[in-house]
Amino acid sequence: MIHLEIYRFDPEKGDKPSMQSYAVPVSKPGMKLLDALNHIKWHLDGTLTYRRSCGEGVCGSDGMNINGVNGLACITDVAGLKQPIKVRPLPSMNVIRDLVVDTTHFFDQYRSIKPWLKTETPVPEHERLQTPDERAELDGMYECILCACCTTSCPSWWWNGDRFLGPATLLQADRWIKDSRDEAAGERLDQLEDSFKLYRCHQIMNCMEACPKSLNPTKAIDHIKRRLLTRKS
Ligand code: SF4
Ligand code: SF4
Ligand code: FES
Repeated sequence: MIHLEIYRFDPEKGDKPSMQSYAVPVSKPGMKLLDALNHIKWHLDGTLTYRRSCGEGVCGSDGMNINGVNGLACITDVAGLKQPIKVRPLPSMNVIRDLVVDTTHFFDQYRSIKPWLKTETPVPEHERLQTPDERAELDGMYECILCACCTTSCPSWWWNGDRFLGPATLLQADRWIKDSRDEAAGERLDQLEDSFKLYRCHQIMNCMEACPKSLNPTKAIDHIKRRLLTRKS
């Protein structure tokens, strides 16, 4: 059996948050934490609430705090986890219910960097082309699934999340700055040149440790800072 302690909170009941214990049988080799949560939901306690969709580490919806570390339940092997496995919602976000957090502010910040291709030149007859090298510049960034594991592990975002954009949004900002087809790098840099939006990153590197896709938001933040420095000199 696998033993879990899961954060429970139902605002409609008005109770304080609490940890609830469950025991789940090992159903298959390589069983993931999401399999255990699904077993609880489907066989033991239908009130347990969490997000999930793809089950394959692609949609980014089942980010949660697992034994004190942020990660995706669907790609986390239960075998390697110390028991009882303590499962909590992503830190520093308001909890809607159980493991479901309010991501409104996170996605508002993402939208604020205008995460789409901005161009001024006329639309070509066919697609806007990139060389293989230009395309390779986006490696390590396009893979981001916006799971928020990095941003919610960042102490600077905990303290200044109202104004500091956080690692996920800054990684995405750099993704568009680096895109050879985008024609708004200057405007994008102007918007990021702000003591809170960008410069609240103190290189603590929690974001990199937390990313389930092994991406490096710190490197992206550093690149934006260097771009701002270069254009000043
Ligand atoms: S490196 Fe920057 S963005 Fe990443 S966790 Fe630390 S302060 Fe946050
Ligand atoms: S950088 Fe990694 S941890 Fe952060 S949102 Fe993207 S995939 Fe998730
Ligand atoms: S369920 Fe989609 S990433 Fe885990």
